[in-house]
Amino acid sequence: MTEPDIKKGLAGVTVDYTAVSKVNPETNSLLYRGYPVQELAATQSFEAVAYLLWYGELPTDAQLAAFVAEERADRTLDENVKQAIDLVPLTAHPMDVLRTAVSLAGASDPAAFDNSRESDLAKSKRLFAKLPAMVAYDQRRRRGQELIDPREDLDYSQNFLWMTFGEIPDPVVAHAFNVSMILYAEHSFNASTFTARVITSTIADLYSAVVGAIGALKGPLHGGANEAVMHIFDEIGSAENVSPWLDTALAEKRKIMGFGHRVYKHGDSRVPTMKAALDTLVDHYDAPDLAALYDTLESEFVSRKGIYPNLDYPSGPSYNLMGFDTQTFTPLFVASRVTGWTAHIMEQAASNALIRPLSAYNGPDERHIPGYVPDAEAE
Ligand code: SDX
Repeated sequence: MTEPDIKKGLAGVTVDYTAVSKVNPETNSLLYRGYPVQELAATQSFEAVAYLLWYGELPTDAQLAAFVAEERADRTLDENVKQAIDLVPLTAHPMDVLRTAVSLAGASDPAAFDNSRESDLAKSKRLFAKLPAMVAYDQRRRRGQELIDPREDLDYSQNFLWMTFGEIPDPVVAHAFNVSMILYAEHSFNASTFTARVITSTIADLYSAVVGAIGALKGPLHGGANEAVMHIFDEIGSAENVSPWLDTALAEKRKIMGFGHRVYKHGDSRVPTMKAALDTLVDHYDAPDLAALYDTLESEFVSRKGIYPNLDYPSGPSYNLMGFDTQTFTPLFVASRVTGWTAHIMEQAASNALIRPLSAYNGPDERHIPGYVPDAEAE
């Protein structure tokens, strides 16, 4: 019998088409609906990029104005969701809070099982508008602080930072945040997006697919890496400690969070853009020690293992400088990636093809219960 061609982790396996984004490791590039992500980060608001992912085209001024007005009017945290968040113990991880909050939002939506594109688009926009308040409130309640209501006079990034910290953000900080939201938004069939597509392929609802994607993103091999990067920085402490710390970590065969990628093997296309944003924050907050630690760990690990940073490496320290709690980092990833996830959910729903791979059996040979006699033979 020929051995089956097992592709562990589906590594290198192309399972379907997508028109949402193109990840090209050969050219180290990432296109959202054909636009290089670097150009989008340099010129667009996150609102405009969300529109692009969902509609396939950048919005006209009139389309963007209508889209933004709708999002700004829907930012308030629903009372039932706030109550649900308050029920989640502070010992729970913020990703568990988000999973719960989105699940309740879905359970409360009378249109939850209307899988039409129009209905899914409306749900996608609601989650896009509501997630910032969920994330901001959860961080504030953990600090013993009250909920801050959204402001309709602020753009997405400014409002997110306002609801979290109660201050109008400096333009440098708001811009860096906007860049991070655009870079995190979409990345083809990554684990959480593919999870969302699998759930959608059974004709389950959009909320179920997003809750599943949140579960997948939580893991430190995926979205949880940005939080894990900060834990590593806290462990190392300063640039001087990088070398001995790496000696120990590599001897223990530890995964160094924020490095490596299943698709990119010579660097993550998004890193230079996020690193440039981090550099503006390092200047703004006067954080040369953090910058030295960042640079030393990168150069030492790349020279020793030839494994390059991924987007989570510059994002973690960036969110740290902005003042977010380390456990809030991956929820920020959710607030951004919900745009990519829902674009893929709508694409998968339109294709209507159940995702169900095969497995090769390597358990015990067929065997039977002693003394069992099938009914027919027993007569
Ligand atoms: C994201 O898919 C996406 O697009 C994801 C994402 C997105 O936008 O959705 O880009 C976001 O998830 C980025 C990745 C964040 N994760 C981390 O930073 C966690 C640390 N990285 C590793 O766990 C690893 O690099 C993976 C999981 C990301 C990718 O692993 P692969 O492609 O499966 O490669 P591998 O684990 O088989 O590693 C190959 C070799 C191994 O050594 P050997 O066992 O062959 O000796 O490289 C080593 C690995 O041990 N290696 C690492 C390493 N990454 C790979 N060793 C130490 N530290 C690392 N970070």
